[in-house]
Amino acid sequence: MTSPVWHPYAHLKTQTPPPKVVGGDGPRFTLESGESLLDATCSWWCMIHGYRHPRLVEAIQRQADELCHVMLGGLTHEPADSLARELVRITPEGLNHVFFSDSGSVGMEVAMKMAVQYHYLRGKPAKHRMLTLMKAYHGDTAGCMAVCDPEEGMHSLFAGFLPRHHFAPAPAAGFAASREDVQPDLDALRDVLEAHHEEIGALLMEPLLQAAGGLNMVSPHYLRGARELCDEFDVLLIFDEVATGFGRTGKMFAADHAAVTPDIMVLSKGLTGGYLGHAATLATDRVHDAFIGDSELHAFMHGPTFMGNPLACRVALESLAVFEEDDYLGRIEALNGVLREELLDDAGLAEHPHVADVRVLGATAVIEVHDADSLEGAADFARTQGVWLRAFGRWLYTMPAYITSHDDMRRITDAMKGWFRSQAG
Ligand SMILES: Cc1ncc(COP(=O)(O)O)c(C=O)c1O
Repeated sequence: MTSPVWHPYAHLKTQTPPPKVVGGDGPRFTLESGESLLDATCSWWCMIHGYRHPRLVEAIQRQADELCHVMLGGLTHEPADSLARELVRITPEGLNHVFFSDSGSVGMEVAMKMAVQYHYLRGKPAKHRMLTLMKAYHGDTAGCMAVCDPEEGMHSLFAGFLPRHHFAPAPAAGFAASREDVQPDLDALRDVLEAHHEEIGALLMEPLLQAAGGLNMVSPHYLRGARELCDEFDVLLIFDEVATGFGRTGKMFAADHAAVTPDIMVLSKGLTGGYLGHAATLATDRVHDAFIGDSELHAFMHGPTFMGNPLACRVALESLAVFEEDDYLGRIEALNGVLREELLDDAGLAEHPHVADVRVLGATAVIEVHDADSLEGAADFARTQGVWLRAFGRWLYTMPAYITSHDDMRRITDAMKGWFRSQAG
């Protein structure tokens, strides 16, 4: 009997029955058939500790024994209080307030609503639109779809349903670009702000790494320039660190590369080590304090049922403890070394006729091809090598769990390179 489960991003006519996962351990998950696959994507980039990490599993079990859930409306609990304090400690200086929610998309919705209400409360209600970037991806809910790349994104058919925002070009200068090379990108941002700042409440970006939009890697100079422009035009800066947070770019947060504090920052995915869905939207005093006032409109009108879920908060606390105690930033640096050596230093790969570009940042690597058709079959090929890869569009990428051994990292890069070697071009 076919399963009633409706799978994401799947063409119902052509999809094949998805393999059934029955367990996982470290960087691998196991299928019903007994096949074990090394996960090169750590499940949409969230399982940063890999599967069945004993400390995370135990943290959930212990918390489940005490308190699985209670509403955060009018109540609080120790896991939420402690996690909020820890997030304030580790995020860029000045992000002192934490609003919990249940997924990256909702965390971004919260951020956008916060920005709109902030300006409203300061007497600038016209600043109710967002400025976002081409190649951006911020989630699949309606508010988020409206700030994703409207052309390359997955949501063009919904155009008539979505509110209209402003878009600036995707930054073209890469991670290592100089301040001068970044200037044209910042000029493009300035042009939109000059023309529309009276209705722009916030600039949103995935700092340093536009992930689902094609793993576009961006210079820290761009973040610093964006910060200055936001201050000049009274626009809030929102960093969507749902994908970049917790080490993915080589530092704890992408913002750390630029020493920039955004006004609002959103975390999810690695927040709980992927073990439970949760998100946090952090805000500075400046944003938070605008909500202190006498009218009923000063209350922030958002409250997801599962915000601050004790199980999620507890596992997030444990995830962070493991991250720090086991020197994950050191591990990420070492993985980065392997990725650079295996992918960037491989002249044969760069010269392959299908390959347009190879990029590496932190524990992220992508091989971009000229034509998406040339990745048709890459996932099946990788599976024959014991590796789970899931290419999208023109991008064959890896974002491994940080506990991946160097041998396993090479197994993943071998599968990626092997695909191109198997294609004569
Ligand atoms: C940068 C970014 N923002 C937001 C989201 C949405 O998160 P979620 O899928 O948890 O709603 C994603 C998901 O991939 C993401 O990469």
